[in-house]
Amino acid sequence: MPRLIASLFLTASLFLANASALDARGAAHAPGHSKKPNFVFILTDDQDLHLNSLEYMPKLQRLVGDQGTVFERHFCTIAVCCPSRVSLMTGKLAHNTNVTDVFPPYGGYPKFVAEGHNENYLPIWLQDAGYNTYYTGKFLNSHTTSNYNNPYPKGWNGTDFLMDPSTYSYWNSTFQSNHNSPVVSDGYSTDLISNYALNFIENAQSSDRPFFIGIAPIAPHAKTAAVVGSSIPAFTDPVPANRHANTFPNAKAPRGENFNPNTPSGASWVLNLPQLNSSEVAYLDEYYRKRIQSLQAVDELVESVVTKLDDYGLLDNTYIFYTSDNGYHVGQHRMVPGKGCPYEEDINVPMMVRGPRVPKGRTVDFVTSHTDIAATLFDLAGIPLRDDFDGLPMPLTVAEMHDAEHDPRREHVSVEYWGTNLQEGDIGRVSPTGAGVVHGNNTYKAMRVIGDSYNLFYSVWCTNEHELYDMTNDPYQMRNIFSKTKGKLLGRDIKQVISRLDALLLVLKSCKSSECTLPWQVLHPDKKVTSLSEALQPKYDAFYAAQPDISFSACELGYFPESEGPQEGYAYRRSGDWSLWA
Ligand SMILES: *[C@@H]1O[C@H](CO)[C@@H](O)[C@H](O)[C@H]1NC(C)=O
Ligand SMILES: *[C@@H]1O[C@H](CO)[C@@H](O)[C@H](O)[C@H]1NC(C)=O
Ligand SMILES: *[C@@H]1O[C@H](CO)[C@@H](O)[C@H](O)[C@H]1NC(C)=O
Ligand SMILES: *[C@@H]1O[C@H](CO)[C@@H](O)[C@H](O)[C@H]1NC(C)=O
Ligand SMILES: *[C@@H]1O[C@H](CO)[C@@H](O)[C@H](O)[C@H]1NC(C)=O
Repeated sequence: MPRLIASLFLTASLFLANASALDARGAAHAPGHSKKPNFVFILTDDQDLHLNSLEYMPKLQRLVGDQGTVFERHFCTIAVCCPSRVSLMTGKLAHNTNVTDVFPPYGGYPKFVAEGHNENYLPIWLQDAGYNTYYTGKFLNSHTTSNYNNPYPKGWNGTDFLMDPSTYSYWNSTFQSNHNSPVVSDGYSTDLISNYALNFIENAQSSDRPFFIGIAPIAPHAKTAAVVGSSIPAFTDPVPANRHANTFPNAKAPRGENFNPNTPSGASWVLNLPQLNSSEVAYLDEYYRKRIQSLQAVDELVESVVTKLDDYGLLDNTYIFYTSDNGYHVGQHRMVPGKGCPYEEDINVPMMVRGPRVPKGRTVDFVTSHTDIAATLFDLAGIPLRDDFDGLPMPLTVAEMHDAEHDPRREHVSVEYWGTNLQEGDIGRVSPTGAGVVHGNNTYKAMRVIGDSYNLFYSVWCTNEHELYDMTNDPYQMRNIFSKTKGKLLGRDIKQVISRLDALLLVLKSCKSSECTLPWQVLHPDKKVTSLSEALQPKYDAFYAAQPDISFSACELGYFPESEGPQEGYAYRRSGDWSLWA
């Protein structure tokens, strides 16, 4: 069956490609003004939403936020660069890409290639639909001066990639263009990426095909510290452009309730962290300033790109997306700078979209995620959605946004992670060999569930620790209320709520395609339950009590389902009658 579907799909997409070519000739659009919309996708690296970084980017706010819609509850589904980028470009959760780390054997560019994604991902699909595709900046981790041509990333009409090992140098990094040899640059990386992006716009507008341009500066990612003889990199403060070096001298990392708290919080290694002392906190503030300073060149890049699109009259037919691969924490839960945790700072990321029919100056709060992005671009380009997408097109018109407010498919997002957690910055957390320090046991499955009357976080770690936060009362995730014995939540005994959350996460932690957007249908094939509030009805108590609990048997460094406990639960047939998932 998959082969038949694939060949039908291929025929259909060839047909579409021909149709659009004919259309482009027949309708005689001005170059760069094809009927299909253009896409400019700006992807920063480790940019937070919760540490207020966007407030320091007035050009972005004015040219993208105010001219489009801000998605306040947009989540990455894995909070680390390479796996998150692969999810973005395949429309699949990391457990379905099996690119789960930044380095081989479980991740990085070689794993992306080994899993077959280089033959089957966004730029290839867009080219098949008649697009010209371009990319500049960081692509995937472990895409290096040694493996850049073995093979080349497929699907691009033009590329200017930043190359490991100097991706995070900020100055004089190595770039590799098209099929040319890597070249050491002379300049500040964000400014060079801005120039490359402007060149792509010039090239793209002279063709009658629509275009996709990916622009991926590294700010505000940490800078690689010089390390000799270690495979684990050490990271130090991000580096601003010289012209921004002294901006915001008084800025400090936000002091929310979870900033270096007196009482430890979180789970696994996080719960055991010592409180940071005053000199360490002073360093966090310095590090924070470097982050927002380094974003100033990105703010300028955004202005240059929008101005160039405007100069060519392209703004009316171009969608501009602005987001980050994952979020970031600086001092929250006593953590030194880093990412990779399931906490809100790491998973809830900036997302703004402007473009045709996107309402201006609007902010929406239904849940969207990075696995929605490939589906969104398909939808806008008029390409039939792939069956293996784990996400849904993001609502981008007034009518779609209105529907999404009440769409149970916009109620949840699942987040996963495997392996270790790398500490960044240099406050006594760098080992004597100069290598970065990692914490183990950072494998987990987590989920956010947000409805009209609830706003919850639930996680199960590989240590079998659980967390449940009522984000309405505890937005900083300081009071874990997970308890199977006592407490009330949403008007029910807390154990009843937990039984539903655990069953929902049991579906989501290994879901495929529509199971990921309609997980309740796996549990209730009769479709009588489509949301947490419906599942909470007492008549389902016995059914949910019978579900197997999520539990891990080991903390693995990669995706080994056999270590991730039960893979299958029960589906509700009728009262007192249930069977294993079909
Ligand atoms: C971009 O690449 C596609 C696929 O190879 C090709 O059909 C198209 O003509 C290229 N566009 C340009 C401007 O070369
Ligand atoms: C970048 O390279 C130039 C020479 O090409 C050199 O003068 C400059 O010091 C380098 N900058 C840094 C920050 O290493
Ligand atoms: C904070 O801790 C670091 C690392 O243990 C130590 O070097 C530093 O002196 C301490 N600072 C203060 C003010 O205690
Ligand atoms: C991981 O968790 C196990 C069991 O909870 C514990 O024994 C072990 O020390 C932890 N390892 C690390 C590296 O934290
Ligand atoms: C994921 O990749 C790792 C490393 O190649 C492999 O060992 C593992 O079996 C894969 N997991 C699945 C579910 O395919």
